[in-house]
Amino acid sequence: MTDKLIIFDTTLRDGEQSPGASMTKDEKVRIARQLERLRVDVIEAGFAASSHGDAAAIAAVAAVVKDSIVCSLARANEKDITIAAESLKAANAKRIHTFIATSALHMEKKLRMTPDQVFDQAKAAVRFARKFTNDVEFSPEDGYRSDMDFLCRILEAVIKEGATTLNIPDTVGYAVPELYGHFIKTLRTRIPNSDKAIWSVHCHNDLGMGVANSLAGVVTGGARQVECTINGLGERAGNTSLEEIVMAVRTRKDFFKLDLRIDATQIVPASKLVSQITGFVVQPNKAVVGANAFAHASGIHQDGVLKARDTYEIMRAEDVGWSANRIVLGKLSGRNAFKQRIQELGVVLESETELNEAFARFKALADQKSEIFDEDIVSLMSDSAMSQQKEHYGFISLNQHSETGERPKSRVVFKVGDQDVSSEAEGNGPVDATLNAIEKKVESGAELLLFSVNAITSGTQSQGEVTMRLSKGGRIVNGVGMDPDIIAASAKAYLAALNKLHDPSQAKLNAQMAP
Ligand code: KIV
Ligand code: ZN
Repeated sequence: MTDKLIIFDTTLRDGEQSPGASMTKDEKVRIARQLERLRVDVIEAGFAASSHGDAAAIAAVAAVVKDSIVCSLARANEKDITIAAESLKAANAKRIHTFIATSALHMEKKLRMTPDQVFDQAKAAVRFARKFTNDVEFSPEDGYRSDMDFLCRILEAVIKEGATTLNIPDTVGYAVPELYGHFIKTLRTRIPNSDKAIWSVHCHNDLGMGVANSLAGVVTGGARQVECTINGLGERAGNTSLEEIVMAVRTRKDFFKLDLRIDATQIVPASKLVSQITGFVVQPNKAVVGANAFAHASGIHQDGVLKARDTYEIMRAEDVGWSANRIVLGKLSGRNAFKQRIQELGVVLESETELNEAFARFKALADQKSEIFDEDIVSLMSDSAMSQQKEHYGFISLNQHSETGERPKSRVVFKVGDQDVSSEAEGNGPVDATLNAIEKKVESGAELLLFSVNAITSGTQSQGEVTMRLSKGGRIVNGVGMDPDIIAASAKAYLAALNKLHDPSQAKLNAQMAP
């Protein structure tokens, strides 16, 4: 006998609350499409009342996602709930997730409300949310540090008001698995109408136990929804990792006896997309999605795996979407072959123009790099998706000179509006010289918060993928650039970030600062 575990992805909401991970509307839509391909049950697309930009992003996600429930967070008040409902209007299936803090500490120090006021507000919020949808989730924020008697009282009341999912957050990552599992079990046992709602877990990872706590909530507590994020993205030490929950439940089905709707082969593409958009690099030894998760370096392990794979492997790399760096296309490949391969890779093209632009980029890349891998095509497509946005700055060419004992020099030619400009500068290194050359003309004054370089495939022929995170006037943006020449990739990434700073619709306030 098995029953179903609901996967509620909050990469676009709680994940986005990581400093520096805020996403533009288009980026949210791209991730939402991938989450839908991954077949998550619920996509929490944002916190509509936090900013106009976030409300617009939720509306855009709601308009394109057909197969997953789309959800918005809302504080427990009519204004937030109305904005959430408005942004979810176009959704095929929608959920409003309303929350209020219930721990003594949060009620007294943060909300400055009495428990009775919080009780009344929670009830009223759920009742109000039910006017817009039958699918209403309630979260007592800092629930795990709340008084058990008060929590039972408030949760019983919101179920009566029509809450269909009750989520118990360990907001500060304080729980340990055994205690958290029993906490959920106690709630379910003591609340008389607990069987009228689905119970959900939401565990932050401050002590590195987010996944373990969530699974204890499922096994001991009887929860049937897990809230999680791709790559464990989230503020501070992050959230529960979606990929770890999914693969634990699937690999140990003998123990968990739970069914999932997820298409696990979409896990690695989702991980790469989130990492590329946010600029948060995945650590190599990260379970399931880390570059070394399936690598065997020791001779004994390699020998064992060659003789019988299951000697040292409990999952297959291809089952979670790792591809074998297959050479798929080259300089002589035609448009049809290219089109077919991108379809096989699950990339959705909106128009013939988009295909033509992507094909032109493919040809340009094939001139620079003889072997084109699936990873190159995926990044090429995301690169081309980015270029659909109206660009103020655009990379044209780079001339760079470095010699041991001399200061590196760069000359960059780039587009500013309708004009081509050329600028030259020196720097401590080739990247520094290149950025100095761009800054000399642009004078953005932005602060560089992050500069990271990644190889898209293996080998020295690989394209470099550079992420630059810039901050200016309270706004934080990420720019990504790809090129076989990592200095050119750096210039592209810097210009992409400047484009977002230039166009207010392409950046949003950090979710933490908005409400
Ligand atoms: O961690 C938390 O308490 C939350 C709630 C808003 C669900 O993210
Ligand atoms: Zn949270």
